[in-house]
Amino acid sequence: MNTVNTINELREQVRAWKAEGLTIGLCPTMGYLHEGHASLMDASVRSCDRTVASVFVNPIQFGPNEDLATYPRDFESDCRLLEAHGVDLVFHPEPAEMYADDFCTFVDIDVLSKTLCGKTRPIHFRGVCTVITKLLNTVTPDKIFFGQKDAQQLAIIRRMVRDLNFDVEVVGCPIVREADGLAKSSRNTYLNPDERRAARILSRAIRLGQDIADGGERRSGKLLAAMKEKLVSEPMAEVEYVEVVNGENMQPVDTFREGDLVAMAVRIGGTRLIDNFTVGQPPIDFQEGQSNAD
Ligand code: PAF
Repeated sequence: MNTVNTINELREQVRAWKAEGLTIGLCPTMGYLHEGHASLMDASVRSCDRTVASVFVNPIQFGPNEDLATYPRDFESDCRLLEAHGVDLVFHPEPAEMYADDFCTFVDIDVLSKTLCGKTRPIHFRGVCTVITKLLNTVTPDKIFFGQKDAQQLAIIRRMVRDLNFDVEVVGCPIVREADGLAKSSRNTYLNPDERRAARILSRAIRLGQDIADGGERRSGKLLAAMKEKLVSEPMAEVEYVEVVNGENMQPVDTFREGDLVAMAVRIGGTRLIDNFTVGQPPIDFQEGQSNAD
């Protein structure tokens, strides 16, 4: 596995692979990798001849009061995971390589970025779309891989790819969970043992929502009321939102159907966690009494 730090080196490798007629998969990440990221790498390695992973904490997708400075980083451990999962090339640029001092061109997306996380993170998706555009322009991959945990991000990238005619297939990979149900996230590392235990409430609420939807309920209000009640039963949980939105345009729906998205953001202590399910997906599985925090 090779590591490159510059756009020119990355382009050079991509050109050589394309000259050999090889297909390329791209897995963009911000590092501090876990099994959720590994599942993206595995999906790419299975379906593409070569896999490129980027490890870059993208400053322009963080708001002024967010966790850019403290975002966890461990590049050596990331490289071990990437190598073990068959990644061919890691792109690990410095911020200055991606954004010149006078950088002023952004890719913004309307409508889909205004709901859910977009309400409290107004510049976040502009930052994501801009960095993904730069990566797509540099790697020109056949496929690009994202986790379903960031469901709004995935919907936004799908729409951006369609609207701007990027010649790439966007592949969404299922959420990977801890044994006790908590969705894997680099930010889980912020949780102290009490918070980690309390964080199980997100997957409990997801499971409750799935059971209610599977039971035939189609009124968003009823579903959300039950899920919120579950969430607030955990004293450490502060609900930012729980919403049901159309699975493609991310707009709230009063009655929902298969393919719609039920998504939440909840703070446990100072840590903002997100989770979701798509209506019609099989129910999530976890061990009820089990906590990885115990
Ligand atoms: O999901 C992430 O880790 C980031 O938003 C991404 C897609 C790597 C862009 O910086």
